Amino acid sequence: MKKIAVLTSGGDSPGMNAAVRAVVRKAIYHDVEVYGIFQGYYGLVHNNIRKLELGDVGDKIQRGGTFLQSARCPEFKEPEVRQKGIENLKALGIEGLVVIGGDGSYRGAQRLNEEGIKTIGIPGTIDNDINGTDFTIGFDTALNTIIESIDKIRDTASSHERTFIIEVMGRDAGDLALWSGLAGGAETVLIPEVKKDIKEIADKIQQGIERGKKHSIIVVAEGVMSGHECGEELKKYINVDTRISVLGHMQRGGSPTGLDRVLASRLGGFAVELLMKDETGLAVGIQKNELTKTTFDDIFVGEHQIDRKMYELSDELSI
Ligand code: F6P
Repeated sequence: MKKIAVLTSGGDSPGMNAAVRAVVRKAIYHDVEVYGIFQGYYGLVHNNIRKLELGDVGDKIQRGGTFLQSARCPEFKEPEVRQKGIENLKALGIEGLVVIGGDGSYRGAQRLNEEGIKTIGIPGTIDNDINGTDFTIGFDTALNTIIESIDKIRDTASSHERTFIIEVMGRDAGDLALWSGLAGGAETVLIPEVKKDIKEIADKIQQGIERGKKHSIIVVAEGVMSGHECGEELKKYINVDTRISVLGHMQRGGSPTGLDRVLASRLGGFAVELLMKDETGLAVGIQKNELTKTTFDDIFVGEHQIDRKMYELSDELSI
């Protein structure tokens, strides 16, 4: 394989730049030309493609976001739209494609693979909701951003004896809420994977107050309900001074952590290795610290699971 391309797609995540850098440098090291597709699948269809050199990825490893930019492109589901993208690749003699993104991006990659473009997926999303990998690129950075926010909110919660509800991202997955709740010492974590009764939460807060607790932190995953809805629900059972913090897109930004940079570099390098061996239709990942590959078909089997043991522990530690 002499020419490959790389794109980032869907919601950006910290570490995507480090992954692109790894793809570009590994390929050039092995005398493979690399093209950058700007604005994800939209850029593929609209031919926003140019050759990348070593210098294009210099000074990028520490940057958040994605310099290739990203875009949502729902029309990429249409076969005739994808065909335009395929023709653009073929016109440049590009034989292989690396897609860095989440679930939706993988669906596009799977289709392209079926339609004859050798494609490898790299999991890039803060949500950590992709099968076939223990961690996605960006999760650790977002987790640390949330923890920092929880720590700061805790100061005010304590000064004013308040209950804070902190809404975090994650789409339909609870990993960000669970991990940040555990690391931030939250009293309660609400995640889509486990049903929890709001009355039980109110009772727990009440018992805490009776034991002398001065404040409470509730972390709610956006996939369960909004922070404001959670506040309204809670009000039905308990009368405490409550504030809501919706962390929003600040969770997606910032310089990637060391873990995310290393993960991105390893996965980027591995993706190129696979393409050089003409392997295709695979998503790379990390499981028990080993690099792994999983077919797109297998990635889409079953729902992403949270670590139940960790959930139980977070409950046990938040009494
Ligand atoms: O998938 C990443 C994510 O940040 C989710 O956590 C969130 O639900 C969604 O993207 C927000 O998407 P957008 O930036 O398009 O509003």
